[in-house]
Amino acid sequence: MHPAKERRTGLTSSAPRDESSSGAVPRFFQQLGDRIEAAFRAAGYDEAAFPAIAEAALREAPPSDHLGACDTLEWALTARAISRQANVDDAFGQPAIQVYVTQRWYIEVLHWLDGTTAIHQHGFNGAFHVLAGGSIHARYRFEEERRYGARLRLGRIERESIEVLRAGDVRQIHAGPALIHSLFHLDRPSVTVVARTAHLPDASPQLSYAPPCLAFDPFYRPEQLARQRQSAEALARLGHRDLEALLARVYQGADPFSFAALAMQTAAHFHSEEGFRAAVLGARDAHGELADAMLAVVAEQRRQDAITGLRVKVRSPEHRLLLALLLYFDHGRPILELVSARWPERDPEELVVRWLEDLSDLPDPRRPGRRVFDFELEGPGGAAARAMLGGRPLGEVLEILKRDFDAAEVDRQAGDLSVLQEALRETVFGPLFR
Ligand SMILES: [Fe+2]
Repeated sequence: MHPAKERRTGLTSSAPRDESSSGAVPRFFQQLGDRIEAAFRAAGYDEAAFPAIAEAALREAPPSDHLGACDTLEWALTARAISRQANVDDAFGQPAIQVYVTQRWYIEVLHWLDGTTAIHQHGFNGAFHVLAGGSIHARYRFEEERRYGARLRLGRIERESIEVLRAGDVRQIHAGPALIHSLFHLDRPSVTVVARTAHLPDASPQLSYAPPCLAFDPFYRPEQLARQRQSAEALARLGHRDLEALLARVYQGADPFSFAALAMQTAAHFHSEEGFRAAVLGARDAHGELADAMLAVVAEQRRQDAITGLRVKVRSPEHRLLLALLLYFDHGRPILELVSARWPERDPEELVVRWLEDLSDLPDPRRPGRRVFDFELEGPGGAAARAMLGGRPLGEVLEILKRDFDAAEVDRQAGDLSVLQEALRETVFGPLFR
């Protein structure tokens, strides 16, 4: 390990701030930036060459070997002057701090405390490096089936790969659909360094994706749409009696983009899922298959919100990993395989059951006043839940239980076990049991 890293990887440095430590950030990025600028210039500033140039530079001089997780924040707080900043009000990154800026490209340091990125593509070329912490990185492909103008599309969003990124890892970024990805940050903070071009003119719109089927331009914000969203929110906070009926009418009369955006942004104002469903289906004459798509999109959004809502309360990287895997997988087998790959010397089922126990006391974001996992994990109940991991069919579950319990008794309990299996599949942790 680099001696500087050894001294400075902690969240706070025990050493008093002195000129050498606060100067380390600008000094490091000046050298890294100068190296990239020289190579980019030699390539005639061809943006197509930038991802490879940025990747090579980040591998030759890895920020993770030289800087700690909070160094850039400490520097930005205390420096007398910092470089030009882009999008000071942009919420991408918590915060994103630009550390080397030219007219054609720049380097920024993104800090993530609780953020999960939406599935998105990029309007620029570049590369990113994990400076500290780690993330689950998933890549996707979009098979377009129908277009409602340039800014809204229906199709199939399919995951191509999933990997765990660690400090020091580098990945290229290519504009457009060549890289559609999302990140779920396991550690707090997770810090990434991005070297990227300015916006490329042929990479618009910069689409985001809402599983299972919607692609949209999140940067398109017509004024009327913004005011509609704000007005609905104000009426919701006022407890306005007619809000659901008003929204149902708005859905019917809206253009396709506004309908899709409003369905996603106002679904939470309905008192029940059935109410929202009725309002969307009421707009089916106007919007056809787009209405069905929005029901699927909002259902998936609710499922993901329940998990990311838990993530804010969970600090341990193992627990965050479990939540990330629940976000990405609908079945238990691949989750157990990934856990087993990460901890090859441990029994993945035992680990997962332990995490379930650890997390079971959290409040359920979907059911106020209830625990997130209200099941007995000691004794026979725990043995049954464990046997049900990975979606084993009930017959197989019974066979496993008969190894440790009286066979006739297990058979007598078969009906109750079937009910338990269904109930487990309905929890936030349901994918583990499917
Ligand atoms: Fe990205």
